[in-house]
Amino acid sequence: MNFEDVLKKYEGKKVLVTGGAGCIGSNLVRALIKADAEKIIVLDNFSSSPRWNLPSHPKVLLIEGSVLSEEHLRRAFSEKPDYVFHLAAHFANQNSVDHPETDLMVNGLGTLKVLHYSYLTGVERFVYASSGCSVYGSQAPLPLREDYVSLHLDTPYQIHKLLGELYCNYFNDYYSLPVAIARYFNVYGPGEVPGKYRNVIPNFIWWAMHGQPLPITGTGEETRDFTFVEDIVDGTLRMGVMKEAIGEAINLASGTETKIIDLANWINELTGNKAGVVFKPRRSWDRAVRRRASIEKARKLLGYEPKIDIKTGLKLTYEWILENKARISEVAKF
Ligand SMILES: NC(=O)c1ccc[n+]([C@@H]2O[C@H](COP(=O)([O-])OP(=O)(O)OC[C@H]3O[C@@H](n4cnc5c(N)ncnc54)[C@H](O)[C@@H]3O)[C@@H](O)[C@H]2O)c1
Repeated sequence: MNFEDVLKKYEGKKVLVTGGAGCIGSNLVRALIKADAEKIIVLDNFSSSPRWNLPSHPKVLLIEGSVLSEEHLRRAFSEKPDYVFHLAAHFANQNSVDHPETDLMVNGLGTLKVLHYSYLTGVERFVYASSGCSVYGSQAPLPLREDYVSLHLDTPYQIHKLLGELYCNYFNDYYSLPVAIARYFNVYGPGEVPGKYRNVIPNFIWWAMHGQPLPITGTGEETRDFTFVEDIVDGTLRMGVMKEAIGEAINLASGTETKIIDLANWINELTGNKAGVVFKPRRSWDRAVRRRASIEKARKLLGYEPKIDIKTGLKLTYEWILENKARISEVAKF
């Protein structure tokens, strides 16, 4: 299916996006506005994203609240969404090491509850934002393929993202809820505010803009599969409406590897930062040396093809952070 046909399927539909104010969620909401969805219901408690990150638009109905609250879930599902994108999460690894029980509640129980309401109200599709950087663990052979899953994970976040997948399969198998599991890889782009628990790209850009050396936790030779948020949104929307995605876990990634030292050097170049890099000890839980996803399944089942290469994506991310520098300064906490 080409992307225009995918977008048409959302016309006149009601879509619930949990975590819709977040990095991926806010971009997904924008795409759904463009697709002319009838109503986009956002359930977000703004625990990890500022209110201004959510586009304000007559089609967007904000329910400020938690996926753990029966009251807020009842309110969200009383709108009778056709599709549910479950993106709300306690994010991410270090945050879960510091707050493992919150992570279990939000990413475990929260997912169970949203699945349950989706089943009770008969939604057409439930798309779960899983994490390819989580479920494969640190020892899987490259490229990371969907049929390999590790039972030796490194953080509570990784464990609970896998738990979410298991709940999805349970609801798909036993309740025939049409579920699709998107395994995202190192997503970056406009919409991610830098901060203590955020990803490396916005943080490197922020520090570089402030003339600081970029801290490399390891040797710099480690690689990650950085994926631009627009490509993630493209794949996610496909998973919301294509029947080929039902009951499947599918990697959404760039399918390429970038070394952290290269990333740091490119960001210093892009921002004109002369402070270079500084090497720090590897974080104890961060055991994955290389990450590169296979995107063959996404290509074959969904016609997914990532379009934005890392250098273009970095430029777009930098421009967004520059444009929003003043309001980011007010909320970014390290
Ligand atoms: N960004 C990545 O690299 C990446 C990679 C793999 C998977 N994922 C998954 O994709 C999803 C979205 O990621 P993101 O980068 O946009 O994260 P994010 O932190 O920017 O967005 C998550 C949103 O959920 C909200 N939220 C947190 N707890 C909530 C609760 N109890 N109730 C309601 N809302 C709550 C936050 O306020 C935030 O707006 C998450 O499920 C994440 O685990 C992200």
